[in-house]
Amino acid sequence: MSQKKNTPQTTETTNQQWGGRFSEPTDAFVARFTASVQFDQRLYHHDIDGSIAHATMLCKVGVLSDAEKTQIIEGLEAVRQDITEGRFEWSEALEDVHMNIEAALTERIGITGKKLHTGRSRNDQVATDIRLYVRHETDLIASELKRLQEGLLGLAEREADTIMPGFTHLQTAQPVTFGHHLLAWFEMLKRDASRLQDCRSRLNYSPLGAAALAGTTYPIDRSYTAELLGFNAPTENSLDSVSDRDFAIEFCAFAALLMTHLSRASEELVLWTSAQFNFIDLPDRFCTGSSIMPQKKNPDVPELVRGKTGRVNGHLISLLTLMKSQPLAYNKDNQEDKEPLFDAIDTVKDCLRAFADMIPAITPNKDSMYEAAKRGFSTATDLADYLVRAGIAFRDAHEIVGKSVAYGLETGKDLSEMSLTELQQFSDDIKEDVFDVLTLEGSVAARNHIGGTAPGQVRQAVIRARKAIAADS
Ligand code: ARG
Repeated sequence: MSQKKNTPQTTETTNQQWGGRFSEPTDAFVARFTASVQFDQRLYHHDIDGSIAHATMLCKVGVLSDAEKTQIIEGLEAVRQDITEGRFEWSEALEDVHMNIEAALTERIGITGKKLHTGRSRNDQVATDIRLYVRHETDLIASELKRLQEGLLGLAEREADTIMPGFTHLQTAQPVTFGHHLLAWFEMLKRDASRLQDCRSRLNYSPLGAAALAGTTYPIDRSYTAELLGFNAPTENSLDSVSDRDFAIEFCAFAALLMTHLSRASEELVLWTSAQFNFIDLPDRFCTGSSIMPQKKNPDVPELVRGKTGRVNGHLISLLTLMKSQPLAYNKDNQEDKEPLFDAIDTVKDCLRAFADMIPAITPNKDSMYEAAKRGFSTATDLADYLVRAGIAFRDAHEIVGKSVAYGLETGKDLSEMSLTELQQFSDDIKEDVFDVLTLEGSVAARNHIGGTAPGQVRQAVIRARKAIAADS
């Protein structure tokens, strides 16, 4: 932040915006303590859009003349340009983005600038700005989320036949296809995408016109400003309008859950890149080395995403706690909504970008995955199901398979590597055709229903998912 101008040099500062009632200037530390311009300046586009809509409406209802409206809008656009091009000097003495812009407008166009604030307050102004900002960021996040989802679908399709162990308790359970595993991640993100749209649809109402808390005495047209700003309608209750931050909480709830999903996937990526699993390779550009151990290639990107989940979860708790005891209507506490919200947005955008770039670049080590699936007796359930089909009760089948596995552990053989005679030690009902189900390929192919791991099902699921994504956008 540039502080060349208006920054208090002494221990006291005067705020022109409300100086009238005060007999001494604000203490310099207090001015700094209560200011938000250091972080809320990022709202400037939305603040200016909101002001332009407000001025346009004031003119329509006869509070401003055409000439005044034009002067204000041109002035605001010039201020916007100054900010965008880095010429604007933000002043802490002017507290926040709203007063900085209004003061700059007045400096530029003179007395007419002072008319802009007619019939509104910073309370409805900031409530409007944050909604516009979150709506804008929501749309950027939705498209990045979609890019990640498309990357997952591409990889799932490519790896529909690739076999890996599926785990429960992180113990090898049954073979699955890698494509199927990736589609599990896709489903989590699908729910996240729909949660984000829910949040967007609930926030898209205009608080502008609620003024400080009770509305205003001017003949304002709230539906018109709502329409100009792309909101569905004005909010219903002025007290609620200036104090409501549900949308910020909902956004952070979406963000925390999304990060939780990315963190779960990250955890798996970290495990899979280890020498012990060796299931996948991440390209070097997503990894870093060690300054002391030359052999190391560390999966920093997924590790960082996993780590950043903590701060986003924290932001959700911050906002819930911020709101829990606030009486109606606006309280200065609300200024504290911004940093957690902004950081949640920034973090989610960065993590989505990292994931969307990284996912399509994953290469599976198919042989390692296949060998790992074989090592853990992952077709034991298939053998039990086979015996059940031959007329044996499931509990007895479970016992027979348990003994076969114990024999396999002793001899170092997977079930599919035993001879028919070896298998028949445990049951006469085992016949030559048992090998169709004992192979990993046979095992995954047999789970051939919606939501199952069979390669054909994975391909069908990818087609359905692509259609669903296309329909949403
Ligand atoms: N910077 C303030 C915020 O972010 C703007 C609203 C100030 N309103 C007030 N009555 N002090 O909440």
